[in-house]
Amino acid sequence: MSKNQSFRFAVAPMIDWTDRHCRAFHRVLSRRALLYTEMVTANAVIFGDRGRLIGYSPQEHPIAVQLGGSDPAALAKAAAICAEWGYGEVNLNVGCPSDRVQGGNFGACLMRDPSLVAACVAAMKAEVAIPITVKCRLGVDEQDPEVALDSLADAVLAAGADALIVHARKAWLEGLSPKENRDIPPLDYDRVHRLKARLPDVPVSLNGGIATLEAAQAQLAHVDGVMLGRAAYQQPELLLRVDSLFFGDADPHADAFAAVAAFEPYVAAHLAAGGRLHDITRHMLGLFTGRPGARAFRRHLATEGVKPEANLDVLRAAVDEVRRAEERRSLVA
Ligand SMILES: Cc1cc2nc3c(=O)[nH]c(=O)nc-3n(C[C@H](O)[C@H](O)[C@H](O)COP(=O)(O)O)c2cc1C
Repeated sequence: MSKNQSFRFAVAPMIDWTDRHCRAFHRVLSRRALLYTEMVTANAVIFGDRGRLIGYSPQEHPIAVQLGGSDPAALAKAAAICAEWGYGEVNLNVGCPSDRVQGGNFGACLMRDPSLVAACVAAMKAEVAIPITVKCRLGVDEQDPEVALDSLADAVLAAGADALIVHARKAWLEGLSPKENRDIPPLDYDRVHRLKARLPDVPVSLNGGIATLEAAQAQLAHVDGVMLGRAAYQQPELLLRVDSLFFGDADPHADAFAAVAAFEPYVAAHLAAGGRLHDITRHMLGLFTGRPGARAFRRHLATEGVKPEANLDVLRAAVDEVRRAEERRSLVA
């Protein structure tokens, strides 16, 4: 995994958000950004409805699957299935603080058990040829981040992990909800920079609180990659400049209007297969954020787009709200 690969810019795994339709939409906005699935547990991959849980469209590549679990044998089996399904990377979740996840002994609480995480990585590495990466926090609860992050990193690297993605804050498993755990524990980018400085040969990506592409680019002076979660989801238009700014490629579309037009065939195919417009457009609500007409766009999709019979015309009418608002503004200006 070299610095030139898609690792430079990734959209974070986000449960309920980065499903296959969201990823297909993001892929229209950037050809190069690395896209992650929602976290899926190893047992779900092994025993569940794989088409629903890990199915994706070929155009979503480059794509990584994120697994949750702490049983090396189950994770190895799940990783093998994901590799067979064509994923380019398996990422292990060592950062999610939800109760459900703690109950199953995985996610952020694994920061306390580096040797178990290492055993999970080793088992997956033995089973698949694709990169195995780890997404973790700085530590949990009373842990000292100076010690906890190094211990976790050293253990998983010794087990063969190919890269680390660090959400640059602790998780407080006692007392904070998962949502609070994304905002309240303070960010400490310097800690991640120090990790990278200590591990010059290991790809390290920084995640957490990056709100703009400019802030993301500034991080590349210290780390090999950046991962954006909420900013990318809530303002997907920013993805339209990722290919040029992070990869030196041409951007895929001149603007968000052209991107939506290019996305229409995907939406049409989903509708033709019996899917609902809202399955897709719920991930598009942030598209025109900050522009005139953005509220009308969202409102139209939120009221009309949720109707069972909603079709492409609803999406086009929502986009027209933005076009009209921009025309009105240019007449006034
Ligand atoms: C709705 C939502 C769901 C999330 N689900 C996951 C998940 O499945 N796996 C994971 O590792 N992190 C998950 N996260 C955390 C993000 O991947 C990311 O680490 C966090 O949001 C910080 O990055 P940001 O400030 O750029 O959003 C989720 C975050 C959000 C907002």
